[in-house]
Amino acid sequence: MARMRVRLTFPPALIQEPIVYRLVKDFDIVINIRRADVKADHGWIVLELEGDEGTLARGVIIREMTRVVDQVGGVNLAQGMPNFPPPPELIAAAHRAIDGDFHQYAVTWGAPSLRQAIAGKYRAFYGLDVDPDRHVTVCCGSTETMLSTLLAVLNPGDEVIIFEPFYENYGPGCIISGAVPVFVPLEPPDFSFDPGRLRAAVTARTRAIVFNSPNNPTGKVFSRDELQAIADLCLEHDLLAITDEIYEHIVYDGLGHTPIATLPGMAERTVTISGISKSYSVTGWRVGYAVAPPELAIGIRRAHDFVTVGAPHPLQEAAVTAFGLPESYYVELRESYQARRDLLWGYLEKAGFVAWKPRGAYYILTDVAHFLTQHDLPDDTAFAMWLIKNVGVATVPGSSFYAHPELGRTKIRFCFPKTDDVLRDAGERLLKLRP
Ligand SMILES: Cc1ncc(COP(=O)(O)O)c(C=O)c1O
Repeated sequence: MARMRVRLTFPPALIQEPIVYRLVKDFDIVINIRRADVKADHGWIVLELEGDEGTLARGVIIREMTRVVDQVGGVNLAQGMPNFPPPPELIAAAHRAIDGDFHQYAVTWGAPSLRQAIAGKYRAFYGLDVDPDRHVTVCCGSTETMLSTLLAVLNPGDEVIIFEPFYENYGPGCIISGAVPVFVPLEPPDFSFDPGRLRAAVTARTRAIVFNSPNNPTGKVFSRDELQAIADLCLEHDLLAITDEIYEHIVYDGLGHTPIATLPGMAERTVTISGISKSYSVTGWRVGYAVAPPELAIGIRRAHDFVTVGAPHPLQEAAVTAFGLPESYYVELRESYQARRDLLWGYLEKAGFVAWKPRGAYYILTDVAHFLTQHDLPDDTAFAMWLIKNVGVATVPGSSFYAHPELGRTKIRFCFPKTDDVLRDAGERLLKLRP
């Protein structure tokens, strides 16, 4: 056994993503992490590691990767956030809110005006009857909403079914709540699940099924039949559906979005989670929410109160404006994202990636097994690092989205909420990989 300290330096923008968790998870597979100090403000993490010499060397490679992304000034298609501004109406609304009288805590479960706007949206878009006073809880982003929901509804020893690959936070959220995540695979090419396998994953301890549609990282949009299969199990076994619908307005190829809460019998057993981050390009505002039956909303509000007290009051007030944007806004959002998808997709195809075309959200998951062989690289992390160094494009290693890292060993994820010039820059660089 050997010990070492590594200091990983990141551009501060990068460190704010769950990259820290991802790294910790990566290291943890092979190395015992004795301590992790994160200084997000300063852009560094210090890890104290224990492991054999060989695996510690791998740690050095990861440090190298972070240094290189800084040095080469490459294109960052890792972090899922836009590089373009939100709608001007929203910026004006934020200015007005700051000039107004919204400087103290809002009602902890959400400013009344925002809860009303959220209820109005669910009525208008999905025909759901949502009571702003009893059903809606506003939190700091959908990330905190998910955590507060899991804390509220799970008891130690409960099991939670999660589809794999998944947005990294669900696993830790379950574990913090004392529950046990149980994974059911979404398999390429369409990332559907085997209903028999889902059914077999239910035990007497199962409390909830967590899923995300449109999906990060696969771009999958769950079909009506798949939603029905999940609903049937929930109804049969008295389970909750906890759904992350943060990409609800980003769907392609004429597809729509169906919240599982609209299926018969499901509104009473679903926590629908969403937020303004992705639909209105304001990931930094940290406003998300849950729509849940009143008996669950009470618990979510209580957990939320203990976790963060409340979301930023002025930004909650400004968010009301988002829900008043016209239908044309959503058409333009979908069309512009579809054009970005197609732009990056074209480059990835030409560059020789095996990729799955997303039907929603703003990521493209790719398989790079042939590139690993060609460049004699062991796995996704090594490839991502190689790509930064040799091509100048930052991506996320696929294993970050899997509880079973070997399932992501040959995958990497690109994101495309970027202006065309950035996507073209990345695309031209990637063409260097052409066989
Ligand atoms: C599936 C999914 N859920 C939630 C989030 C975070 O949303 P928020 O900014 O509302 O916390 C992300 C961000 O990448 C995501 O991909």
